[in-house]
Amino acid sequence: MSIALLYERSENDENGIKLTAQQLGIDLTFLPFRKIALSISKEGFSAKTKGQNYTNAIKDVAVVLNRAQSKNRRLQASFFMEQLGKKTINSSQIEFTCYSKLRTLLLLWKEGIPIPKTVFVPCDSSDTLKNGQVIHNEKDIADLFQQEISLADGIVIKADAGTHGKMIMLAKNHDELITSIQETKPSIINPVGVVAQELIEKWFYDLRIIVHKAKGKQPVCYPTAMARAGFKDFRTNTFLGNLVFGAKLPKTIQGLAVKSGKTLGKGSDAWIFALDAMVNVKANKQVDDVYLKGELDKASQAFAPVQKVKQDETRLTNFKGWNSKLEKAFQAYANSEHYENIKRIIEESVEKNKNALVFHESNSCPEFWENTRLATGYNVAVPLLKSAQSLIDH
Ligand SMILES: Nc1ncnc2c1ncn2[C@@H]1O[C@H](COP(=O)(O)OP(=O)(O)OP(=O)(O)O)[C@@H](O)[C@H]1O
Ligand SMILES: [Mg+2]
Repeated sequence: MSIALLYERSENDENGIKLTAQQLGIDLTFLPFRKIALSISKEGFSAKTKGQNYTNAIKDVAVVLNRAQSKNRRLQASFFMEQLGKKTINSSQIEFTCYSKLRTLLLLWKEGIPIPKTVFVPCDSSDTLKNGQVIHNEKDIADLFQQEISLADGIVIKADAGTHGKMIMLAKNHDELITSIQETKPSIINPVGVVAQELIEKWFYDLRIIVHKAKGKQPVCYPTAMARAGFKDFRTNTFLGNLVFGAKLPKTIQGLAVKSGKTLGKGSDAWIFALDAMVNVKANKQVDDVYLKGELDKASQAFAPVQKVKQDETRLTNFKGWNSKLEKAFQAYANSEHYENIKRIIEESVEKNKNALVFHESNSCPEFWENTRLATGYNVAVPLLKSAQSLIDH
């Protein structure tokens, strides 16, 4: 019985998993999920692309590593494969939870894990009647939010199923709040209602923390997180030009992350999550922002060669060669004085404010090859593959 890598397009993460599997001596079956017709009828099950029949390959698979990028496709993939008797990482139950930020937060909150205050109004921003008339609910929704969160402190409106910082909006006055609520019309990334959150005053960074569990083993939190850092936007997503750093985590935070993983992974023998967390630093800063901006600018110059390699198209034709270049460029950036300095500032800040940390999202299929792996020194493909193996071995 084998492990399958189910994917949509072969990107760096998928190539990284393939390369790691080779290094670990693990055979992988590849399932280009988006191109396969999955057929069920009284004749049974078949899976075919235009040119290839995957039916037998799927029969031999015991565990599916689900790397479908779209949340909807990933949820369908895990559920479908489970019905065929396969184990999945992650399970459809987990995908169902992580699909929605609200569902994730609800489970964490129930377990007493710190989260940002979050308000959900199930009503959509507007309704269109049969006769075409549009009913606007924005003002009522804004009033409901303001009953719970002070607008003067900032209200964050977010698409419940969004990724990459899409549709994460900060409102600081009534007009901005109304406009942000209007933006959340029902869509694939915001299926229903409107989600609002208190603004966490997180200084210039947030954290991405890896937790995982293999069957028969205790869950583990990797002790170094990736910090995404910069002052460009209140969102710290890397595509906005923010930088990445490694940051050692205090034991208490590692413990909370494990507890979060256990909560979200309940019912599954093996799982992996990249948890997003923010630290409510407020005024508890140990250096001033002007100095810090100067350091970030200099670190950003040291990061430019890394960005250049990332854009290099040879990754598509010679992944291994490209990866060596990427690792070398990142090492040079990480060895720079400004990287070291900012990393230390983040670690001190996390330690000083460890009781002010909140978890706000769990990524069930995290990107890791280009940033998380290099910043933390941890190749997430290893626990992914080992967790998959643990489901076969047991
Ligand atoms: N309540 C909040 N207060 C302050 N900043 C926030 C808040 N919610 C989100 N952010 C900022 O916006 C970023 C993106 O938010 P979030 O992680 O919820 O969305 P996402 O689109 O799923 O991002 P990702 O690419 O991390 O999956 C966070 O990393 C954080 O910097
Ligand atoms: Mg996030």
